[in-house]
Amino acid sequence: QPIYLSDYTPPEYLVDQVELTFRLAPSATRVISKIRFRPNPEAVSKRFFLHGEGLATISSTIDGAPVTPREVEGGIEVDAPDAPFTWEAEVEIDPKANTALEGLYMSNGMYCTQCEAEGFRKITWYPDRPDVMAPFTVRIEGDEPVMLSNGNPTASGDGWREWTDPWPKPAYLFALVAGDLVAREDSFTTMSGKHVDLRLWVRPGDEGKTAFGMEALKKSMKWDEEVYGREYDLDIFQIVAVSDFNMGAMENKGLNIFNTSAVLCSPETSTDANFERIEAIIAHEYFHNWTGNRITCRDWFQLSLKEGLTVFRDQQFSADMRSPSVCRISDVLSLRGRQFREDNGPLAHQVQPDSFVEINNFYTATIYEKGAEVIRMLKTLVGDDGYRKALDLYFERHDGQACTIDDWLKVFEDATGRDLSQFRRWYKQAGTPRLKVTETWDDGTYQLTFTQTTPPTPGQAVKEPQVIPIAVGLLGPNGDEVRETQVLEMTEGTQTFTFEGLSARPVPSILRGFSAPVIVERETTPDERAFLLAHDTDEFNRWEAGRSLAKEVLTGMITGGDAPQAAYLDALATMLRDDSADPAFRALALQMPGEDDIAQTLFDAGMTPDPDAIHEACETLKQARAEYLQDLLPRLSADMTVSEPFEPNAEQAGKRALGLQLLKLATRLDGGKAAQAQYEAADNMTHSLGALACLLDAGKADAALAEFRERWKNDALVMDKWFMLQVSHAAPAEAAATVERLTKDPAFTMKNPNRFRSVFGAFAGNPAGFHQKDGSGYALLADWLIRLDPINPQITARMSGAFETWKRYDADRQDLIAGELDRILATPGLSRDTAEMVGRIRGAE
Ligand code: ARG
Ligand code: ZN
Repeated sequence: QPIYLSDYTPPEYLVDQVELTFRLAPSATRVISKIRFRPNPEAVSKRFFLHGEGLATISSTIDGAPVTPREVEGGIEVDAPDAPFTWEAEVEIDPKANTALEGLYMSNGMYCTQCEAEGFRKITWYPDRPDVMAPFTVRIEGDEPVMLSNGNPTASGDGWREWTDPWPKPAYLFALVAGDLVAREDSFTTMSGKHVDLRLWVRPGDEGKTAFGMEALKKSMKWDEEVYGREYDLDIFQIVAVSDFNMGAMENKGLNIFNTSAVLCSPETSTDANFERIEAIIAHEYFHNWTGNRITCRDWFQLSLKEGLTVFRDQQFSADMRSPSVCRISDVLSLRGRQFREDNGPLAHQVQPDSFVEINNFYTATIYEKGAEVIRMLKTLVGDDGYRKALDLYFERHDGQACTIDDWLKVFEDATGRDLSQFRRWYKQAGTPRLKVTETWDDGTYQLTFTQTTPPTPGQAVKEPQVIPIAVGLLGPNGDEVRETQVLEMTEGTQTFTFEGLSARPVPSILRGFSAPVIVERETTPDERAFLLAHDTDEFNRWEAGRSLAKEVLTGMITGGDAPQAAYLDALATMLRDDSADPAFRALALQMPGEDDIAQTLFDAGMTPDPDAIHEACETLKQARAEYLQDLLPRLSADMTVSEPFEPNAEQAGKRALGLQLLKLATRLDGGKAAQAQYEAADNMTHSLGALACLLDAGKADAALAEFRERWKNDALVMDKWFMLQVSHAAPAEAAATVERLTKDPAFTMKNPNRFRSVFGAFAGNPAGFHQKDGSGYALLADWLIRLDPINPQITARMSGAFETWKRYDADRQDLIAGELDRILATPGLSRDTAEMVGRIRGAE
C-alpha cells in the first residue's frame, strides 16, 4: 500500500471556490460544503473522487440534484459532468471523540483543527491534496465567544462569524478555532504601508505569557521584508495557543495554530532555551506564509520544498537575532543528534523520498533539518547574490503555484547559470557521507586529499559522489591564519586540493561553519585539537575541536585505549579562562557530548557500544573535570552573575548557560550546596530548573521536587518540565521505575502529547536507563506505545523512533528489542502510522 512519487497524476477536477458552514456541537458538528468544481484540462482521467474519512453523510448533491456516491478506498466516487458544476454536501463529525488530534477536535474545551498533511478529509468530502488550491469562505455558527478561521473577517451576527480567505490554498492550510479565548492585540505596518492587525489568542489566565511571542512575530514580519522582500498579504494575522497538539505549530493561512509549549512563555515559567525555541518557531510558521502557503507543494514528496527552506530561513533569522556561531553550533548539535541518528539507522530516507505509506511519518529531521542543510550548501555554492537572485525568481515565477523540488532547482539554474544535476543527488541519496581527509606537506606545498563515501541505506545500496562544499582555512604554527576561509568544491569520489607558498606546515581547519552535513574522518593528535580549540578563527571549528577531544577521551576510556585526558582538561581550562570568548560559546564548549552520540561514534568505529560503560565513563570524566577546574569556578561563576532584571536575550542567556555549566561542576564537589542556594534564590525558571537538575544529580532533590510540584501544579507547561527532568536525570537502574512511578501521578495523562513526551521522550533520551540489560526499558515503552496507539497514532509512531538505533547494540539487547517490536506489530488494529514505523525499524529479516 505505499504511494509512489512516480505515480503522480494531475487532479481530475480543480476547485474555483469553497464555501463551508460549520454548526458547532462537541459531539455532533455539522459541516455543510458548497464547492465549485471544473474539469482540469491537464487531467489524464475524468474520475470525480473526493477524500473522506469517518464522515457521516447527511446529504450530497451535484448542481442541486441528489447524488449517491460510491464508497471506494479512502473516499467516494461520484458521476460528475465534464463541465463546471457545484457539489454540495452535509456531513456530521464528532470533534469530542477525536483523540488523534487530526481534523477537527477539542482541546481543553475549545475547538481546533490540524489538517496537515491529510486531516481535512476528516472534516468534509474534498480533493485533499496540496495541488488543489482554492479561495475559501467559512461561516461558523455556535455559541462560542470566539470563532476564527483563515483570512479576513467579512461578516458576523448573533451566533455566527464569517471569514474569507482570498488567497487560493490547499485544504491542508485550512483552520478553524472556537472557544473561550482572549487576545493580546497589536499591529504591524508593512513596507508598503499596509496596516495589519495582529492577534495572539490564549485561554483566559495565559495572557501573561504572550508578550514575547508577539514581539517575535513583529520581528519576523520585519525580517522577512528586509531580507527576502516578502510582505504580509491579509488584513489580519492570528496565532492561537492550544494545549493538545501533535507537533510544535502549524502555518494555516493567516491563522497559525501553536502548541502552547511553542508560544507561551514568561521568565517565571520558561527557560532561556524555551524563549529561543519559541522565537524560532514563531518565525518559522510566519515565514511559511511565502514558503509554503503562497508557494506550496505539488504533492507530499515535495515536503522539503517548504520545510527545508523554511527551516533554513528560521535559522538565518535566529542567527541575525542572536549570535550566529552559537546558533550554528546548536543547529549542528541537533542535526547530529536527530538527523545523523536517523540517517545511520533503519529509518534513513531521502530528503525527497520515492515512496511512503503514511505521510505523517515523514515530518522528519531529514526532510526538515537535512533539507535546510542542502539549501545552506546551495547558497554557499552560488553565493549570497546568486541566492537572492534565485529566490526573487522563485517568488516571481511560482507565486500561487503548487511546486516541486525540481522547480526549485531550476530557478537556481536559470538565475545563476549553474548546472545542478549532480547537486540534486543531495535530495535523492539517503545517508550521511563520510569525508576522509589525508594530507601531505612538501617544501611549501600543502595538499589535502578528500575521499567521500556514503554507506548503504535501506533500499539504496550504491551511492554516487555528491557535490560537497568544504570550507577550509589554514593556521600557521603560532596560531595565525595563513590562509583565510575558502570553499573547496568537491565533486569527485576522491579529490586533492593544493595550497602553495606556505612557510611552514599548516594546521588545517576543515569544514568551517559545518559547510556540509557530512562526517569528517581525519587522523589527528590531541595536541592539534587543543591548538584549534585555542586558535581557530572559525568559532564553529573551535567548538568542534573541543568536542572531538572530549569524544576521544571518552571513547579511549571506554575501549581501554589512549584517553588524552590531561590535554583535554588543560585545553578546557584555557578555553574557559578566555574572557574574550562569548559565555554562550564557552557554555557550549563545556557541555559534555551526549551518551547517544558516543554510542554512535563507537558503532561507526566498528565497536558494540555498552550504554552502561558509556554512562560510567561520562560520570568519571565529569568528576575529573570538576576537580581539575575547581579553582576557576568561584571567579567565573561570579562573573556570570546577571545583575539586570531578567531579559530573555542572547547576552543574558549566555551568562546563565555558562553559570549553569559551572554549577554542575560545583555540584560534583559540594554535593548540591550551591545548587540548593540557587534553587532557593531563583527568580526565573532557567535558574530554578537548572538548580533542580543539579539537585537531582546530587540525589538531594526530594524537598525541591515537592516544593516545585506544589508551586506549579496548575501550570501544565511547567509540570511537563517537572516530569521530564526526573526521567532524564534518573540513574540508569532507576529510570524505568521512575517512569512507572510518574505514570501513576494524578497529573499524568497519555492523551496530552506534551505530557506523554515529557515522560517517554525523556526516557528514550536517557540511553543508559532505556537500554538496561534486562530489557525492562524496552518492555515498558512498548507497553505504553501499544496503549497509546488507538488514542493517538501519530505520537505513537513518532515515539517508536526510540528503537531506531537498536542495531548498534549487542545480540542480547537486539533480541529483546526485536521481541518488543514484534509484539507491537502483532497488536490487533495497529494504526498504519505505527505499523509503518515499527515495520521499517524492525526491517526485513
Ligand atoms: N507544517 C508544520 C510546520 O512545519 C508541521 C505540521 C506537521 N503535521 C503533521 N501532521 N506531521 O510547522
Ligand atoms: Zn514548517
